[in-house]
Amino acid sequence: MGAAAELLAQMNGQGAIPRHVAIIMDGNGRWARERLLPRPVGHREGMKSVRAVVEAAIEAKIEVLSLFAFSQENWQRPAGEVSALMSLLEEYIQKEARELHERGVRVVFLGDLDRLGPVQRRAVDGVMSLTAANRTLVLNLFISYGSRAELVRAARLIAEDVAAGRLAPEQVDEAAISARLFTADCPDPDLLIRTSGEMRISNFLLWQVAYTELVISPVLWPDFGRTELFQAIVDYQSRDRRFGRVSA
Ligand code: IPE
Ligand code: IPE
Ligand code: MG
Repeated sequence: MGAAAELLAQMNGQGAIPRHVAIIMDGNGRWARERLLPRPVGHREGMKSVRAVVEAAIEAKIEVLSLFAFSQENWQRPAGEVSALMSLLEEYIQKEARELHERGVRVVFLGDLDRLGPVQRRAVDGVMSLTAANRTLVLNLFISYGSRAELVRAARLIAEDVAAGRLAPEQVDEAAISARLFTADCPDPDLLIRTSGEMRISNFLLWQVAYTELVISPVLWPDFGRTELFQAIVDYQSRDRRFGRVSA
């Protein structure tokens, strides 16, 4: 048995599989730099990891896989890198949409999609409507996303509802906020993985990760695959999730 197959068996025997796994896919630039290659080569290589991790998530029977692909702050990178990333986004959709659909993956893009160019926007909208009825795996792709902006948007939606008399101030509770986030339809992540050894959240899912287990992997995203995902899940299964209470 290979390492990944052994981990899969261990995982399935050991305990509950996390319903929702979120990943901050980091380290593409460093992967390229180590090879004296331009940064976009690292991003292209990272696309292969996306493919591998989506397949592994289906195999593990995860319900929701959330991938942080491009942050609101990433718009401030050099124009050449931003346009390389936008081309890769379109290429990813062209290449993968059909197979994702055949595998029953529902692809959802979350973020400030109005900032995308018309070509990317059309591709994004196309794959979302193509796969909308699929149920095997929800693949959340966060693009042009910032968690604080998402919370500001939720606050504004609540203010509009209150101002219009549709909602009373005392009805503003945690559920009211959760229901106005992009992730309203999903359970909170059980496991958040960040690759490349960085120990920070970088404005990802601040509200949703209140009680999420964190795994920081030293592996750079282009080197992350099925084995590394299964290893992170095995680590997750050894955690004692207390949610502020005492252990059983
Ligand atoms: C992650 O890799 C991809 C994006 C943030 C778009 P980086 O591009 O951040 O790679 P490093 O962190 O510079 O190595
Ligand atoms: C976070 O990575 C965003 C994505 C993975 C899309 P960054 O590389 O942008 O984060 P910082 O700058 O290291 O915090
Ligand atoms: Mg980075």
